[in-house]
Amino acid sequence: MAEIRLDKFLANRSNYSRSEVKSLLRNGAVRVDSVVESDGSRKIDPDAQSVTCQGRRIQGGSHLYLMLNKPQGYICATEDRMHKTVLDLLPESLRIKGVFPAGRLDIDSTGFVLLTDDGQFAHDMLAPGKHIPKYYLVCLRDPIGDQDIQAISKGIVLSDQTHCLPAQARAFPGFCALICLHEGKYHQVKRMFASLGNHVESLHRVAIGRLVLPENLRSGGYLELLHKDLSRMLKAPDFDSIYEQILKNFSSYSINASP
Ligand code: URA
Repeated sequence: MAEIRLDKFLANRSNYSRSEVKSLLRNGAVRVDSVVESDGSRKIDPDAQSVTCQGRRIQGGSHLYLMLNKPQGYICATEDRMHKTVLDLLPESLRIKGVFPAGRLDIDSTGFVLLTDDGQFAHDMLAPGKHIPKYYLVCLRDPIGDQDIQAISKGIVLSDQTHCLPAQARAFPGFCALICLHEGKYHQVKRMFASLGNHVESLHRVAIGRLVLPENLRSGGYLELLHKDLSRMLKAPDFDSIYEQILKNFSSYSINASP
């Protein structure tokens, strides 16, 4: 990993704010290779040096984590003979790092895809027992009623008798809704609404855990995630606050967008 300023490294790789980092440095709480360091502008190499803050090791983290706003027409795979893959949206400099999509969205679905080269993190994110919530903004052929929301909260039974875990849903303006799932069965959202006699016209993943896709991240655009963002993904769900955030920016979400 390239050299980086110590204060920047600490802010990026921990949950401390920039001002907290400043005072931790001032108070002698930061050590580089076991020696107290108070100069935040000092350059360090996280791969070669050990940094501790209040006795806790700050991981160098040479892994890469990207949030991509997937457009329609791309598949979540690393290669495919027929279709463009999400890796085609990245520059060569990132592709050669060996990132892959941690989780899938259908070819016609859009929104938040996590890309990483960290197999362990991807595995933990996807492990069925972890139940990391995924939030989808869906627009439907017919309006979603209170009975549908109740049925979703009890757990839908799909047409092949597969039982879904209880999920949460709430209507948005128009025939749209936010739905939160704690599992990822094949075409699950589409099949759930099909079981309710409705049809999903568009599906946009807007959040994983408490990490929300910024409404201004253009379709096909990506950004690098920091330690703080990864922690947000793993935090306990908060459906109401995610709903409010999406509602506030509802008209900005580029549903169905092409790159
Ligand atoms: N459920 C679906 O039906 N499709 C997706 O892409 C994601 C969840």
